[in-house]
Order: sequence, then C-alpha cells, then structure tokens
Amino acid sequence: MRRPIVAGNWKMNKTTEQARLLVADLLPGLQAVTSVERVLCPPATSLMGLKAMLTGTEIGLGAQNLHWEASGAFTGELSPAMVKEFCQYVLIGHSERRQYFSETDATVNKKVKAALAIGLVPIVCVGETLAENEANRTSEVLIRQIMEGLKDVPADQAGAIVIAYEPVWAIGTGRASSGVQANVVVADIIRPALIALFGKEITQGTRVQYGGSVTAANAAEFFCQPDIDGALVGGASLKPTEFIKIVEAAGQ
Ligand code: PGA
Repeated sequence: MRRPIVAGNWKMNKTTEQARLLVADLLPGLQAVTSVERVLCPPATSLMGLKAMLTGTEIGLGAQNLHWEASGAFTGELSPAMVKEFCQYVLIGHSERRQYFSETDATVNKKVKAALAIGLVPIVCVGETLAENEANRTSEVLIRQIMEGLKDVPADQAGAIVIAYEPVWAIGTGRASSGVQANVVVADIIRPALIALFGKEITQGTRVQYGGSVTAANAAEFFCQPDIDGALVGGASLKPTEFIKIVEAAGQ
C-alpha cells in the first residue's frame, strides 16, 4: 500500500505574514488527517518561519526549486544544503520552471540527483502541453521526461522519488483531466517507464500524484484511481477550506 501524498504548491504567492496566517488556518484541519502525507511548498522566503510553525506537526515543507551545485557563483539560486535546512521535499521540473525558466530534462536530472544525495524527497513534475496532447505525443513526451530526468539515479535512492503527473493544459485552467484519463496515463505510460528504469519492486512503491486544476469537488475522482496516490495542488492550496477538503478526500 502506498501512502497518499498531497502537496500544496503556493507558487509565487504570500508574503511571510500572509503565509503565517494561511498556515494557522490550515493547521487544525491538516493535522487531523494523519493517514495522508501532507506537504506545503511556500515561496523560499517563508520556509524559515513556517519551519518553526510546523515543528512538532507531521506536516512537511517543500521548496519549489533548488540548484544542483553545492555552492558558488550562482546568483539567485539555493543550494541543496540551504533547502535541506528547512525542507524535507523539493519540487523539481514544474512546467512553469520548464516554460519560463528554460529548465530541461538535463537540468531536472541534475536537480533530482542533488536532492536525493542530500536526503530531500524530490517531487518530479512531468506532463505534456496541449499541443503535444493534440498531436498524440503524450506518451513520447512523458517517456522522455522520465527517462532523461531520472537517468542514472542510483537504484537505492530511487524509492524516495515522487512523480507528479501534471498535464500542462490542466494547470491553472480549471480544465482538469478526468480521473480515468489520468489513471490511464499513469498506469500505461508513467509506471512502465519507471519500471524500465528502476524495476518492478521499486516502482510498486513509487507514489504518483495527479496535478492540474484539482479542487475539493474533483479530488475524490483522482484518489479513487488505483495508480494515483495523491495530488499536487496549486490554486486550491491557497484556500484553507478547499485544501483541507482535498487532503481529507485523499484520506478516505
Ligand atoms: P493548479 O496548479 O492546481 O492551480 O492547476 C497545479 C500545479 O501547478 O502544481
């Protein structure tokens, strides 16, 4: 049995004070759902303050990005050790990073290895764009993102990886995939690619989240699918009642 994992990706939202208020609203509801692994990914400026607030809870913290080098002349970047000071998780290769910040499968690969080496759980985002979907290239794109993004990851570390399947056309559009459709992609494309890389045994334990316009209204449709083990939630993770309901749905 894979433990469901629901992560909130706050993206570039919330000052430190706003973040503190949001977490205060979220905490009681989130703490009640112990069967689900719960993760918040705020902007980096809030990581220190929220770590203090979340100490003693089982709610994890994730960064939205990291650099693969240990230190040096990389203006604006955070090293794995800097992220590890506050976080247990890190988002890697989100489609917005790929689209607006030129991240590639090769940089995703370096980041995944650096995260694993320091003991962070990488939440590796993959997904096809609308154009790729309409050109029937979903399978080719996802296989490439997984094979290249997770290339040469040591087998003894691969079990920690979480995959987020986020069709780019579903992110922030209000146009989610259907549960059945997302499950087909995970079962027929993503898991076979993971098996090719890491073998059946490790892949059986690998959690794959769905992401893209997840709401309290549609969350259960994803969580009842056999190959989907949680969600990566953007917009709805900024609304306390909504996000708590999504986490509760994952626990049912
Ligand atoms: P959304 O974003 O839930 O707002 O569609 C999901 C994501 O980008 O992780």
